[in-house]
Amino acid sequence: MTLMNNKKFHDWDAYYKENKVEKMPWYNANLDSDLENHIKSNHLHGGKFLDLGTGPGTQAIQLEQLGFDVTGTDISENAIIKAQKLSSKVRFFTDDFLNSKLADKEFNYIFDRGCFHVFDEE
Ligand SMILES: C[S@@+](CC[C@H](N)C(=O)[O-])C[C@H]1O[C@@H](n2cnc3c(N)ncnc32)[C@H](O)[C@@H]1O
Repeated sequence: MTLMNNKKFHDWDAYYKENKVEKMPWYNANLDSDLENHIKSNHLHGGKFLDLGTGPGTQAIQLEQLGFDVTGTDISENAIIKAQKLSSKVRFFTDDFLNSKLADKEFNYIFDRGCFHVFDEE
């Protein structure tokens, strides 16, 4: 599936408003296996994690449960409202990473799952 060529993903906020996150093609309630392997093999524990384009927030929530201090951001306010209902321990807020409010903040780790690859190279 090429999300970039799929018009319904051009308006992320409407998509999150109109659809159940559990039905979205990228939805994964569990920790992404690549991320899990990376955390284990690099013995990562603690520290500040940013989940860019957090969407349903599942990865951010899993990371918080592993003991990381997690911020999850997304351009879609509707995605963030839904994610906030699932966890009060993760700091979820709207942010466009192309013009981010977080430019002066520091994180130990920044995670992107399914976000950058929806953009053209330029
Ligand atoms: C394929 S979804 C992946 C969601 C989430 N990372 C996951 O794994 O469930 C891509 C996400 O990127 C978000 N997104 C797209 N453009 C963005 C931007 N400029 N800034 C922040 N988030 C963006 C979308 O709203 C959407 O939630």
